[in-house]
Amino acid sequence: MRTTTTIAETRAFLDGARAGGATVGLVPTLGSLHGGHTSLMARAAADCDVVAVSVFVNPLQFGVGEDFAAYPRDVDADAEVVSRSGVDLLFVPSVEEMYPEPVRTTVSVSGLTTRLEGSSRPSHFAGVATVLAKLWNIVGPCRAYFGEKDWQQLAVVRRLAADLSFPVEVVACPTVREPDGLAMASRNAYLDPAERAAATVLHRALLAGVAAVEAGERDPAQVRATMAAVVGTEPLAELDYAEVVDATTLDPVDPLTGELRLLAAVGLGRARLIDNVGVLAD
Ligand code: PAJ
Repeated sequence: MRTTTTIAETRAFLDGARAGGATVGLVPTLGSLHGGHTSLMARAAADCDVVAVSVFVNPLQFGVGEDFAAYPRDVDADAEVVSRSGVDLLFVPSVEEMYPEPVRTTVSVSGLTTRLEGSSRPSHFAGVATVLAKLWNIVGPCRAYFGEKDWQQLAVVRRLAADLSFPVEVVACPTVREPDGLAMASRNAYLDPAERAAATVLHRALLAGVAAVEAGERDPAQVRATMAAVVGTEPLAELDYAEVVDATTLDPVDPLTGELRLLAAVGLGRARLIDNVGVLAD
């Protein structure tokens, strides 16, 4: 496996691979790699001749007062994980390499980005879209792999690729969970043992929402209330939002019908955790 830190050497390596006819898959990450990330790498390795993984804690997608400085970083451990995952190239740029000057050009996806995560993180998705536009231009992947864990991000990424005609196929991969249902996430490292035990409330709330829809509930307010009530049983957890929306557009649906997505965010100590599940209401 090759590790690069500059855009030039990354392009040179991948140009060489493409010249030999190889297809390139990209798994963009913030690092602190876990089983969710390696599931994306495994899928990319199964689909593509050459797999590139980027590890870059992107300052543009962290708001003022968020955890950019504290975000867990362990490049050696990440390199070890990546080297065991069928990956050919690990790209670990510095902030200076990616943003040598104050950024004046950004990419923002409207509509989808103002609700849910966007209400408490107004500049987050523009930061994500901008770094992905850069990574796609640097790596030139024919496929890029994303987790359903970040459902709203996935919807934003699909629109980014479609609206700007990036020649990349966005591949969605299922959420990988701990045995007790907690979605794997780098920010789970912030949880102390009591908070870790309490964190299962997020997935339990979503499953209660799904059960309500499956039992015939078609009033979104009732489904929201069901999820909020479950979160309310856990004193350590503070509900940010629990919503049920159209799975593709993320628009509100009332009465509930079609492919739906239930999404929720909770605060737990200094961690903010998000999760989502799907359900069909016909
Ligand atoms: P990060 O949080 O490191 O996640 C990288 C990718 O792994 C994302 O596509 C995310 O959805 C996926 N992922 C994380 N946890 C997962 C889980 N439990 N199961 C399945 N997939 C999971 O998301 C980002 O980084 C950044 O915003 C990024 C896209 C890299 C842009 O900076």
